Amino acid sequence: TTSYDAHFEVWRGDVDGGGLEDFTVQVNEGEVVLDIIHRLQATQAPDLAVRWNCKAGKCGSCSAEINGRPRLLCMTRMSVFARDETVTVTPLRAFPVVRDLVTDVGFNYQKAREVPAFVPPPDLGPGEYRMQQEDVGRSQEFRKCIECFLCQDTCHVVRDHEENKTAFAGPRFLMRVAELDMHPLDAASQQGLDRRTTAQDTHGLGYCNITKCCTEVCPEHIRITDNALIPLKERAADRKYDPLVWLGNKIRRR
Ligand code: SF4
Ligand code: F3S
Ligand code: FES
Repeated sequence: TTSYDAHFEVWRGDVDGGGLEDFTVQVNEGEVVLDIIHRLQATQAPDLAVRWNCKAGKCGSCSAEINGRPRLLCMTRMSVFARDETVTVTPLRAFPVVRDLVTDVGFNYQKAREVPAFVPPPDLGPGEYRMQQEDVGRSQEFRKCIECFLCQDTCHVVRDHEENKTAFAGPRFLMRVAELDMHPLDAASQQGLDRRTTAQDTHGLGYCNITKCCTEVCPEHIRITDNALIPLKERAADRKYDPLVWLGNKIRRR
């Protein structure tokens, strides 16, 4: 038979606390975890709170943890679990819970606002921007980000250390800084904004010890650590410790 009954544990509660609730629920061939959550809403738990929009892995809304691992509910097939396995669904651990599986991800929007936007080159008009295809290609990968914040949730720097949140922007936004720093037309430094210095001083790049957990959970398979964070660390270190770069900056600022 293609249908079976699965055992689910779903976290129910709010800011005041909560716990896991047991469910036995039907699973049909080809379904994903979000289908099962919807079936629970339709049959056994009409007030179960879950955030979702696209059911296609593109909106980044349905982030939660399945068996303790950050995942998209709509992209996790039931076929990856054994039929007799208990599937545990809990809200993202690094962010405050609103209700049931819905968390307040406002931390991420705050961090987004702390990264200054692209600064257009002052001497070029619209239509005059030119970039090498290689440079376009490099940042293309980063723009695949769907802002699911699974990487933000999994990074141990904040996952287990609430106190680090003020000083650390997290992988998604350090990647944004890296993207802008690699942008050949970004003129931020001409306005006194050195993205490499702020990566360290404002966005907490030094907290990242390249464990790569962020890269492992990214549903867009962006190589966050290898292609954004490590290159940004190398560039930031050059700026700070390379005496010639340092001298060059001193002279240019006069
Ligand atoms: Fe999600 Fe990947 Fe973007 Fe992080 S980098 S928010 S894991 S899509
Ligand atoms: Fe965190 Fe990713 Fe760095 S998980 S420590 S941001 S490599
Ligand atoms: Fe949009 Fe899952 S519902 S990514």
